[in-house]
Amino acid sequence: MDMMMLVQGAACCSNQWLAAVILSLCCLLPSCLPAGQSMDFQWPAVDNLVVRQGETAMLRCFLEEGASKGAWLNRSSIIFAGGDKWSVDPRVSIATSSKQEYSLRIQKVDVSDDGPYTCSVQTEHSPRTLQVHLTVHVSPKIYDISSDMTVNEGTNVSLICLATGKPEPSISWRHISPSAKQFGSGQYLDIYGITRDQAGDYECSAENDVSFPDVKKVKVTVNFAPTILEITPTGVSLGRTGLIRCETAAVPAPVFEWYKGEKKLTNGQRGIRIQNYNTRSILTVSNVTEEHFGNYTCVAVNKLGTSNASLPLNPPSTAQYGITGRAEILFSCWYLVLTLSSFTSIIYLKNAIIQ
Ligand SMILES: *[C@@H]1O[C@H](CO)[C@@H](O)[C@H](O)[C@H]1NC(C)=O
Ligand SMILES: *[C@@H]1O[C@H](CO)[C@@H](O)[C@H](O)[C@H]1NC(C)=O
Ligand SMILES: *[C@@H]1O[C@H](CO)[C@@H](O)[C@H](O)[C@H]1NC(C)=O
Ligand SMILES: *[C@@H]1O[C@H](CO)[C@@H](O)[C@H](O)[C@H]1NC(C)=O
Ligand SMILES: *[C@@H]1O[C@H](CO)[C@@H](O)[C@H](O)[C@H]1NC(C)=O
Repeated sequence: MDMMMLVQGAACCSNQWLAAVILSLCCLLPSCLPAGQSMDFQWPAVDNLVVRQGETAMLRCFLEEGASKGAWLNRSSIIFAGGDKWSVDPRVSIATSSKQEYSLRIQKVDVSDDGPYTCSVQTEHSPRTLQVHLTVHVSPKIYDISSDMTVNEGTNVSLICLATGKPEPSISWRHISPSAKQFGSGQYLDIYGITRDQAGDYECSAENDVSFPDVKKVKVTVNFAPTILEITPTGVSLGRTGLIRCETAAVPAPVFEWYKGEKKLTNGQRGIRIQNYNTRSILTVSNVTEEHFGNYTCVAVNKLGTSNASLPLNPPSTAQYGITGRAEILFSCWYLVLTLSSFTSIIYLKNAIIQ
């Protein structure tokens, strides 16, 4: 078409004025024009309008002073021709705040409304078009994310987070608890051979600059066999209340068993009380007597394994643990008595020899 016009211009018009006249005339004939192209040559009006999904879009267009008519097109289909509504869409209307205004109002804009719109204005002298490109922006929304999961330590874990939005949201991952470590971005988060430290909440954030990021979490529970961190006695001495604390690391929380030597201990047995808390077990002896001394073993069991640790509780004289001031004094007294008695013996012996 442009070629034809050029040829026309070149063939019949050696002077510029004539060429201009022919071109203008040509532009007045709709059949001569490729839709929405050559008109821009006369009135190169292209507008961009960015509207968020759900909001109302106002595509501005004004009629000329004097008798003129307008039409709005969505791609190639007519929405309005003058005051006649051709579109069946109830969301569209013409806004005429002033006599000249001929703007297209689209309520509750959706992604499908995205695209070029044309306002065509017929004036007495020349038709003009205004192109408005409507861009519909959509807030980020996570529509699919991995469910909370429980895995065994060492497993390969893959988390997924899918989001929609326009522009396409960027997705990032963060390990919330306990490290709050930032991970790479992307829909997938792969963790090879997950460790117990990597258990916790993973937060997926979908972000574009339309509105606030959409954030969702996945809880990853990592199971592992128990290990006994420590087994420690407190206040174990004759006549006192003694405790043995057994501290473990295990997921899920272990079941505890206590042994004294080979014998399994039960709650209530000979002044013994066993209290279990999540990963800790406390054995309490309300009144420590001689019979309570011995070798104690704490056993922690969960579905991934078992672990045990032992603690020898010895009577005060040879005790590693539970030596109290009283025991020491007692020991010193005995030593003194022994020493004194040996002295007396020696003196007695000496006297005997002398005598
Ligand atoms: C514009 O056209 C598209 C498809 O051609 C349609 O889905 C959309 O609803 C139309 N929008 C308006 C405001 O007419
Ligand atoms: C975990 O992933 C690594 C690397 O891709 C692979 O070599 C290994 O076999 C996987 N382990 C399991 C249990 O699938
Ligand atoms: C602890 O046991 C001893 C010996 O059986 C007893 O004499 C004492 O009264 C007990 N003490 C308490 C506080 O029960
Ligand atoms: C205590 O008992 C455990 C388990 O029965 C055993 O392995 C350990 O040798 C014992 N320790 C002592 C000091 O007897
Ligand atoms: C403690 O663990 C050892 C090996 O780790 C095992 O041989 C023993 O039977 C365990 N004891 C108990 C009471 O479970």
